[in-house]
Amino acid sequence: MKFMFVNAVWNLKRKKLKKVNLANKKILLGVSGSIAAYKAALLVRLFVKNGAEVQVIMTEDAEEFISPLTLSTLSKKPVHSSFYADKSKGTWVNHVELGLWADLLLIAPATGNTIAKMANGQSDNLLVATYLSARCPVYIAPAMDLDMWAHPSTQANVSRLTEFGNTIIDVEEGELASGLEGKGRLAKPEHILSFIEDELSSDSKKNFKGKQVLITAGPTREDIDPVRFISNHSSGTMGVELANAFAKEGAEVHLVLGPTAKHFYFHKNVTVIPVVSANEMFQAVDTRFDESDITIMAAAVADYTPANQSKEKIKKKEGDLSLQLARTKDILQTMGSRKKAHQILIGFALETNNELENAKRKLQKKNLDLIVLNSMKDKGAGFQHQTNKVTIIDRFQSSTEFELKSKREVARDILLTIQQFPNAQQA
Ligand code: CTP
Repeated sequence: MKFMFVNAVWNLKRKKLKKVNLANKKILLGVSGSIAAYKAALLVRLFVKNGAEVQVIMTEDAEEFISPLTLSTLSKKPVHSSFYADKSKGTWVNHVELGLWADLLLIAPATGNTIAKMANGQSDNLLVATYLSARCPVYIAPAMDLDMWAHPSTQANVSRLTEFGNTIIDVEEGELASGLEGKGRLAKPEHILSFIEDELSSDSKKNFKGKQVLITAGPTREDIDPVRFISNHSSGTMGVELANAFAKEGAEVHLVLGPTAKHFYFHKNVTVIPVVSANEMFQAVDTRFDESDITIMAAAVADYTPANQSKEKIKKKEGDLSLQLARTKDILQTMGSRKKAHQILIGFALETNNELENAKRKLQKKNLDLIVLNSMKDKGAGFQHQTNKVTIIDRFQSSTEFELKSKREVARDILLTIQQFPNAQQA
């Protein structure tokens, strides 16, 4: 009975979403020449509506995609695109002052060209000169075609910018201006808004400040011989989104990440511990679990590993080959058996049939507080998708079904659920 009451309050509470507040924040918006530049108008409107003061700098090419008049009307301030205010009178636009004025500089959309210039200090336009002078935090929301985005040259430039301490607001997946489908779209203006607001909210407003969060993500890889292995299709995206979501809320996150081909951006509060095999993942979790307040195991861990790893490449012979497999340790179940009352433990269940029943069984067997169920039957859920559709079941057997959403939004739903969980406050 008592549990039912706690749960009812919890369900009510978690419906409340965070309010966006940018009052008195000075945002300098840099717009470069991408088809997505028209979205700068929406961004300015959203920022102004939420109380921010906005100034806009455009590159010359950006003016081909959206008129400075639109952005100056929405921001109620002149838009700058040249070093010179009036060449004939010898007046110039002071990029140093612009950089010092801002509480934050957001470059959205950031084209491959602008990113390359920023990474190399090539300040041949007002936007990059201001970037080099700015002392405030810098956020970069790239937009480009999928192959441009995936190109090692772009990725190297982006990595450089993160090394400089800039934050990347990752591109999103979908239809691109070229007609191709894939990663490269500018993050949705409302996603950029909530990202910026999360970053700016003071530490006292961060709900997981001071908490230690341990997350596993990605696949594991079990070697058969020096050239072959057993693995699965997990990309690690769900776990990485969770790590970034908790880090933004002030938590100190340790992310134990299996081998993934995907390129991710991590919040500065995330420490990545790369591992390869299920055994390595076990060791990494084992040494950190006791200090962890909240542990989420999103990794797709191999249940079996070759009983004997051949040191040499196994040669082909006549007839079939049988491999002897040995059970790996169940990391989640082991941690569940030694979990202390103040610790919160969350598992995932990827099912193809009897989904709810199987997930509830795992929740109980592994002594979890919550389990996140995704069904392979749901289109757009599970491995190799940017989206997921989950049902969260708690240890009181109450379950909440969520709609199909981006994995970033799913991570936020999971975070909000944990935030309202009865013992989250003591964790
Ligand atoms: N898990 C783990 N260690 C393992 C296997 C699974 O920590 N050796 C964790 C996963 O990270 C996930 C949860 O256990 O959070 C459930 O994983 P899943 O593969 O769905 O279930 P299993 O327990 O392996 O059962 P089965 O494969 O039979 O469905």
